[in-house]
Parts: sequence; structure tokens; C-alpha cells
Amino acid sequence: MQIVSTKKELQDLVKACKTEGKTIGLVPTMGALHQGHASLVKRAVEDNDICIVSVFVNPTQFNNKEDLAKYPRNIERDAQLLSSIGAHYVFAPTPEEMYSKEEMNSTFNFDFAGLDRVMEGKMRPGHFNGVVQVVSKLFYLTQPDKAYFGEKDFQQLAIIHHMVERSSMAGTFGHLQIIDCPIVREESGLALSSRNERLSAEEKETALAISKTLFESLKWAKMEGATVQAVQQRVIDTINAVPGLEVEYYEIVDQTTLLTTDTFNHAIGCVTVYCGPVRLIDNIKY
Ligand code: PAF
Repeated sequence: MQIVSTKKELQDLVKACKTEGKTIGLVPTMGALHQGHASLVKRAVEDNDICIVSVFVNPTQFNNKEDLAKYPRNIERDAQLLSSIGAHYVFAPTPEEMYSKEEMNSTFNFDFAGLDRVMEGKMRPGHFNGVVQVVSKLFYLTQPDKAYFGEKDFQQLAIIHHMVERSSMAGTFGHLQIIDCPIVREESGLALSSRNERLSAEEKETALAISKTLFESLKWAKMEGATVQAVQQRVIDTINAVPGLEVEYYEIVDQTTLLTTDTFNHAIGCVTVYCGPVRLIDNIKY
């Protein structure tokens, strides 16, 4: 496995792969890798001749400086994991390599068709502009046949699908296919996340109530007379009743439009919860 840190090196190796007719799978990450990321990488290795993993804590998608500073970073450990599961290249640029000063300091404009106005987008203004900025740049640089994203960040995934659909109309990303990969959970149910590294043992135990409540809510949704609104509120109340947890939002929305819905058909519940100082997200499909 080779680690490259410049766009030029990356583009050269992509060109060589393309010349040899090799297919490329891309797994964009912000590092602090766990078994959730590993599942994406394993799939990319299986599906493609070449697997490129980007490891880049993207500053433009953080609207909170403290969150950016505290985001866990450990490239040596990440490289070890990636090499052990067969990734071919790791792209790990600095922010200065990735962006010009102008790009770094201005908001990337994009028409989200409203997908950014709810949930994460509402709570973290500008977050998805940064995500689309970095992901589109990674797509240009790596020209992947397939790109892999986890369903834990469900709204991000919906936005990336929208971005690729819009762009392929203009022929930008060729035949790029976005591959949705299911959430990976600990045996306890806790959704794997790089942010879990910031939880104390006690907080990790407390955080279990999040997934437990989401799974419980599948039963509540099947009860006679259950309404989306009532289930939504019951999830919020149940999690908030646990000392140490505070729900930022829980919204049951349509899986495609991300708009509130009054039916459980094709619906997904997305939650963000503060566990102490750590902001955790999870979701469940009804
Ligand atoms: O999901 C993430 O880790 C990031 O948002 C991504 C897609 C790598 C872009 O920085």
C-alpha cells in the first residue's frame, strides 16, 4: 500500500490505472478509522481492481472550530488498518494541498434542492457545502468507478446521490456509482463512529440507550393507531429521560426527500444526541 499526499501524485497514479484499464473504487474518510470504515474498504477492494482511501479531516465542513480541533487523528493506525485489509492507495493531503486560500475561506455554492435545510443541515449551517466541496474534488481527482459511503450519515448520502445525479446530467462524473453501505454496530447496538473514541467508558454505556430506543421504536411504529408524530416524540422523551443524554433532533422523514412524512412507509428516523460533550448520530429505517 502506498500513501500519497499531493494531488499531482494522486492524479498520476489514477492516470496510470486508467491507462491499464483498471477500475477504481474510492472510499472517502476523515480517518480515525474503525470497523465501519473497514467494511466500506473491504467492499471497495472486492468490487474494483484498485481501492483508493482518502484520509482527510476536511476543515470546510466543520462549522465549529473546537469540533475540528478535537476530531481524532491517527494516520499511522489508519494506515496499518488499511494495509491489513488490502487498500492499494491512501490519499492523505494537508488542507493547504487540498484547497487554495480562496476555497478555504469561501462557502462552496451548491443547489441542494432543499436537502440541506433539515436535520444536520439546519443544525450545522454550511456543513454540507463543505462535504460537497471535498467529495466533488475527490471525485475529480480519483475518477472512481464506484464510491462507498456509510448509511450512518444518511443525509450526507442522500446529498451525495443528488450531487452525482445532477452532475452526471452534465456528464461530469461519467458512470460513477455511489454504493450505500449499511451501518456497522458494536454487539451492544452502538453505531460505530470515530467520535466514539471521545466517549469515556461510562458515556459509552449511557450512549447505548440511543440505538436501543431506535430499535424499540420499530415496535412502537407497529402498534395499533401509531402515528409518526407520537413515535417521534416518544423516542425524544425516552432518550432525554436518560441522564447524560440530550436529543438535538429526532426526525422521521421520507428516505428520498428527507421531508417530514406522516407514514412509516419508506421512512427513516434520524437522531442526533449529545452524550456529555460528544455529538452522536444514528438512524433507523421503518
Ligand atoms: O463522512 C465523512 O467522513 C465525511 O463527511 C466525508 C464524506 C469523508 C467528507 O469529508
